[in-house]
Amino acid sequence: MRAPFTSFVVLSAVSSSLAAWVPLSSLQNRVDSPFLDCLETAGFDPVVQGESEYATDAAPFNLRFDWKPAALVYPNDSAGVAAAVKCGAAHSIKVNARSGGHSYAAFALGGEDGHLTVDLNNLRHLSVSGDTATIGAGNRLGDVALYLWENGQRAMAHGTCPYVGIGGHAGQGGFGLPSRAWGLLADQVQSLEIVTADGSILTASQSENSDLFWAATGAGSSFGIITSFTTVTHEALDSVAFSYTFANYGPAEASKGLQAWQNFANDPSKPLDVSLGLQIHIAPGDSPSGVVFSVSGQYYGVDEAKVNATFAPLLAELGQPSATFIQTQDWITSVLFLAGTTGLDSLNTTLAPDTHDDFYATSTFVSLDEPLGSPSTDAVMEYFYGPGATSEVAWFVIFDLYGGGESVINKVGADYNAFNARDALYSIQYYGTIPNSVSDADGISFIQGMKAAIEDNQPQTFFKEYVNYIDSTYTADFAHQKYYPTHTARLTDLKNKYDPNRVIHHPQDF
Ligand SMILES: Cc1cc2nc3c(=O)[nH]c(=O)nc-3n(C[C@H](O)[C@H](O)[C@H](O)COP(=O)(O)OP(=O)(O)OC[C@H]3O[C@@H](n4cnc5c(N)ncnc54)[C@H](O)[C@@H]3O)c2cc1C
Ligand SMILES: *[C@@H]1O[C@H](CO)[C@@H](O)[C@H](O)[C@H]1NC(C)=O
Ligand SMILES: *[C@@H]1O[C@H](CO)[C@@H](O)[C@H](O)[C@H]1NC(C)=O
Ligand SMILES: *[C@@H]1O[C@H](CO)[C@@H](O)[C@H](O)[C@H]1NC(C)=O
Repeated sequence: MRAPFTSFVVLSAVSSSLAAWVPLSSLQNRVDSPFLDCLETAGFDPVVQGESEYATDAAPFNLRFDWKPAALVYPNDSAGVAAAVKCGAAHSIKVNARSGGHSYAAFALGGEDGHLTVDLNNLRHLSVSGDTATIGAGNRLGDVALYLWENGQRAMAHGTCPYVGIGGHAGQGGFGLPSRAWGLLADQVQSLEIVTADGSILTASQSENSDLFWAATGAGSSFGIITSFTTVTHEALDSVAFSYTFANYGPAEASKGLQAWQNFANDPSKPLDVSLGLQIHIAPGDSPSGVVFSVSGQYYGVDEAKVNATFAPLLAELGQPSATFIQTQDWITSVLFLAGTTGLDSLNTTLAPDTHDDFYATSTFVSLDEPLGSPSTDAVMEYFYGPGATSEVAWFVIFDLYGGGESVINKVGADYNAFNARDALYSIQYYGTIPNSVSDADGISFIQGMKAAIEDNQPQTFFKEYVNYIDSTYTADFAHQKYYPTHTARLTDLKNKYDPNRVIHHPQDF
């Protein structure tokens, strides 16, 4: 049972006290605000409530939120970021960076009203030199992948959505299908430039400001505003995309399927090649049950015969798929395929605007030491194939393999950086788009029911969670226990060192 943590607390949108003395709603009053004066003196044209751009600029990716920042600014360089941070610090306005804006809790907009959002969209420089890349923190994953491909056929492990920003993604983990071979995106960062809460522009790496580097690669949203990442890159490998679909499963078969996948993923007698990226997807779909279960992924640097031979023993347990897909792809084709798009231009996020969603998501890490037992997998599959088959919430669940074999994610060691789940076998992400016909509270509790089915039926387990799937309903203390169970004390000390006045701050901060 999840005994120590039984309640989920929904954070309310607390209006900040600064509203009393910072006039937000009238252009006329701008001249009276020392905070806005400070930004203007620094050369900004801050976007504030009442201006026509405000609605668009302050719109979150997750439309479930409607935070009202005191202002948004768009610096052109690190000095501009530092100037903005200093204005926030001088006038007691909390500050947040926005890279791609994809935070599930809209924390780049403060996660509450009255913050300063420092949007990094103008920090989009990209360069490669040998096997390293330098990447401005305003870039999105699609731009990075495209640039690396076009400049020497280089690559990194990172997530699939082209519009996710490198700032949040690399700052707090960043999982992709090549991560078992190359690590999380945070692990591929060699050094970074960061503006700290006092407005200093620092370089941090394992040899310089190493404590800050440790914190900013895993708990990146709490230690300043990263302006640039220098990363290792890898040869862009061809791969084989595979998917085995089981449209004829019911809950019993799906539970056995998850058990078989879990054993296959972590069989000490047959260590799984790190070049294999492996998932399970479960979502409503076209099948007799209304739900479709599929095992899929990408196997880098091998041919189709190797894929067939690798999966033969697993398929012997999963049964005959209702559909099989196997395709050899060059690197950039695999990036497009995983993004669900076509054409290189679809990776260039300067060419088309981002989309939005209205959703709630949360996660579970299943540890190497304690794979799920059948009470847990039975219960969750009964939930998916029962209430899940008819829910109005448009949900999906993804199981991402982190561990198994010699996975680099685990091998770097428990305290390599602030990311605190080096014992993960796999993550589970539970995601639901909430339609207008369903209340937020009902949509959220429907998704939380999935997680409860997993966690409440697994005796005596503590489950960690993934901070890049940040759960908007958590208090700060509960979030720290889930995201940084053994790193909270060290991160709190470092927060006291680098940001004693809590200038950079969101509701789940240290
Ligand atoms: C469609 C979609 C697909 C996804 N797929 C994956 C996936 O495959 N794998 C995976 O691991 N995750 C995935 N994610 C989750 C994603 O990694 C996180 O949402 C990530 O934090 C988003 O980063 P961002 O820069 O776009 O968001 P933002 O909202 O800009 O930032 C997120 C947080 O980091 C802070 N931050 C942003 N930039 C900086 C900076 N430069 N310095 C300091 N703090 C900063 C923000 O203030 C905020 O608190 C996905 C998300 C979505 C919406
Ligand atoms: C950023 O650059 C643009 C274009 O050169 C300029 O108009 C703007 O004033 C600059 N912003 C700041 C804060 O210096
Ligand atoms: C994206 O398109 C813009 C405008 O054409 C171009 O300047 C930029 O170089 C492109 N980005 C990449 C990564 O190719
Ligand atoms: C691999 O399996 C697929 C699907 O069963 C089959 O179509 C393909 O011919 C096989 N490829 C090789 C190289 O064995």
